[in-house]
Amino acid sequence: MDPERPWPLILTIDPDYPVPGELEIPAKLLRGGGLVCFATETVYGLGANALDPTALVRIFEAKGRPASNPLIVHVADVDAAKRLAIWNDRAEKLAFAFWPGPLTLVLPKTNCVLDLVTAGGPTVALRIPSHPVALALLRQANCPVAAPSANRTNALSPTLASHVLSSLGNRVDCIVDGGPCKVGIESTVVDVSGERIQILRPGHITKSQISQALGETIHFEGQTAKGGAARSPGNMPLHYAPQTPMEVFLAEAPFRAKIAQLKALDKRIGCLPDFEENRVQFGFENPWNWEQLLYQRLHAMDGLGLDFLLVWVPGHGEAWEGILDRLRRGTGKCEN
Ligand code: TXA
Ligand code: MG
Repeated sequence: MDPERPWPLILTIDPDYPVPGELEIPAKLLRGGGLVCFATETVYGLGANALDPTALVRIFEAKGRPASNPLIVHVADVDAAKRLAIWNDRAEKLAFAFWPGPLTLVLPKTNCVLDLVTAGGPTVALRIPSHPVALALLRQANCPVAAPSANRTNALSPTLASHVLSSLGNRVDCIVDGGPCKVGIESTVVDVSGERIQILRPGHITKSQISQALGETIHFEGQTAKGGAARSPGNMPLHYAPQTPMEVFLAEAPFRAKIAQLKALDKRIGCLPDFEENRVQFGFENPWNWEQLLYQRLHAMDGLGLDFLLVWVPGHGEAWEGILDRLRRGTGKCEN
């Protein structure tokens, strides 16, 4: 905490029925170059006016993020997106199918977009979030809002306002608490800027949903193909990591064996799923429940000063792709 800076203003807004008047203060802060963290359906964002270079520099400082990692710009409607990007048919189809929602489109940028947003590159990442609070704030602010996840760089993403407060504290001016994020993992990032469509980051919206909306086959290059990391710097090993060492299992037997082994050594361990709790309540077999609760559970366990976190992912297939991707990066064990 920087003792020189005031505590951020924390506003609690009804997640289903935000009253526009309630968002006037954070909207004004955004327009004036302030840093405003706000709830989206995926994770909390650390927002700043995308047209204000000084405000953008403050995002990188607050997160401790290298300027080489470009930012996603959030807008309230497709017209605003079209002012920032050179639109195409694929973007039209995907925006129609999934916006507002947890999908980010990478497109060639127009001249309005600052180099600070795109890390000097020729493309811009755009998203219309579906969370009513995020949408109301964007409408009220009436400017494009650059917003990475509201956490210090490489740390766990925030899905509760309390996560934002403990990670960024008074490095920001305001936190708009819109409740727990319903999707819970970051948006699917799809690059439609070139001939070949690529999924740069898997998420709640799957490859088949995207292929179906487009009527064509697509490729996922985020973590397997060469150059994936460079194309989307968020796709780096150890990007979404807890402080506690973590191990991820794809089958129950080795997970249970590891629990037994560490318990025999008197190690303090945190497990997901936790066998003390009711599996039905956690929605054990449902990937959407996993997405929704993954960061919440990791944050909670990470704060306990444990020796190890052990996670067993009970499903496989594309609905689990986003969860596995974040967990792989949380252990630093991924292929590229
Ligand atoms: O769900 C989300 O996308 C959240 C909420 C707040 O909207 N935002 C988020 O932002 O996850 P961030 O900055 O943590 O992740 C943005 C990802 C990074 O992997 C970044 O490298 C990639 O998008 N990205 C941004 N602009 C890009 C561009 N022009 N080309 C390729 N990748 C880009
Ligand atoms: Mg992030």
